[in-house]
Amino acid sequence: MNIIVTGGAGFIGSNFVYHMLGKYPEYKILCIDCLTYAGNMSTLKEAMDNPNFKFFKTNICDRKAIYEIFENEKPDIVVNFAAESHVDRSIENPEVFLQTNILGTQVLMDACRKYGIKRYHQVSTDEVYGDLPLDRPDLFFTEETPIHTSSPYSASKASADLLVQAYHRTFGLPVTISRCSNNYGPYHFPEKLIPLMIANALNDKPLPVYGEGLNVRDWLYVEDHCKAIDLIIHNGKVGEVYNIGGHNEMKNIDIVKLICKHLEKPESLITFVTDRKGHDMRYAIDPTKIHNELGWLPETKFADGILKTIKWYLENKEWWETIISGEYQSYYEKMYKDR
Ligand code: NAD
Ligand code: TYD
Repeated sequence: MNIIVTGGAGFIGSNFVYHMLGKYPEYKILCIDCLTYAGNMSTLKEAMDNPNFKFFKTNICDRKAIYEIFENEKPDIVVNFAAESHVDRSIENPEVFLQTNILGTQVLMDACRKYGIKRYHQVSTDEVYGDLPLDRPDLFFTEETPIHTSSPYSASKASADLLVQAYHRTFGLPVTISRCSNNYGPYHFPEKLIPLMIANALNDKPLPVYGEGLNVRDWLYVEDHCKAIDLIIHNGKVGEVYNIGGHNEMKNIDIVKLICKHLEKPESLITFVTDRKGHDMRYAIDPTKIHNELGWLPETKFADGILKTIKWYLENKEWWETIISGEYQSYYEKMYKDR
């Protein structure tokens, strides 16, 4: 089996690469990534030594290069993780989100149509459903919840989902879509909440919490997400959407306080800063469908996952210190200086 994994030098894609190489020694994993600021070859260091792994430094919007890879490698399955993924950056500069997240998806699906494929899997997000009110804890996103986006990021992901469904209906492309809640774990880029707070706390820097920190996210350990995608590409029903999430809802402020506690840092580092524009209040997934149809359940509880994650950041300082010493510094300055 030849599996193309796009965005494999990023957070979830790299965890998926390692999951697949470890579990299926007979599969070939072909990673396509153009190495934006979010992609790192150091993340794939161990995979590069594996004879079943190949890396292509290619942009998914580059039709000619993508067709060439398909022609030469004849993939059976494509799993598309490649995306611009940070909401705050999408508020600053939406255009690249539309290019990569929508048009890049189209190029990949056109290649699938041209060269034939057993499955195209689109890695999507619960953010396509918009948000839920804080005072209705009885409400959850199901696969039937209408798409209702808030940020340029979620609008671009939702557009891609609609296009994937259109390619299934119009051209019969064998697709599946998964919509997952917030992930955390190893190789998470330190611009996102959990790794940013760990890195700042370790450097005794202020911990910038947006608004009052009351926004709720449904956190899933990244390995559980990888296992869910593995199940969907092998056993999921073509044309279907699967929600992935873990009933692991936490307020941002509680996560930041927990990180302070585990790292033995004072809560006085917490600084409340100007809220994100259009900030979604609460995300919460109902994962009944993937549980009933494919037997998936999240295995890692947040209390254990956050400890494993903190341990990983402590043991892999070089990985994130290299990242935050580069162009990340000017990003940080721009986003947080006068906030
Ligand atoms: P990430 O930003 O860490 O990684 C994205 C990767 O895609 C990087 O390696 C980057 O170099 C690559 N990439 C970007 N544009 C590209 C292009 N045009 N061509 C080729 N490669 C390109 O993102 P992530 O957090 O790992 O998210 C992966 C996927 O999962 C995304 O599609 C995202 O929407 C989705 N998702 C993420 C979360 C989360 O909590 N992080 C939750 C649900 C869904
Ligand atoms: P993030 O990790 O960017 O994921 P998403 O926006 O996709 O959910 O943010 C998670 C939550 O943390 C979100 O409510 C915004 C908040 N947040 C902060 O309070 N401070 C920060 O510095 C960042 C990056 C996020």
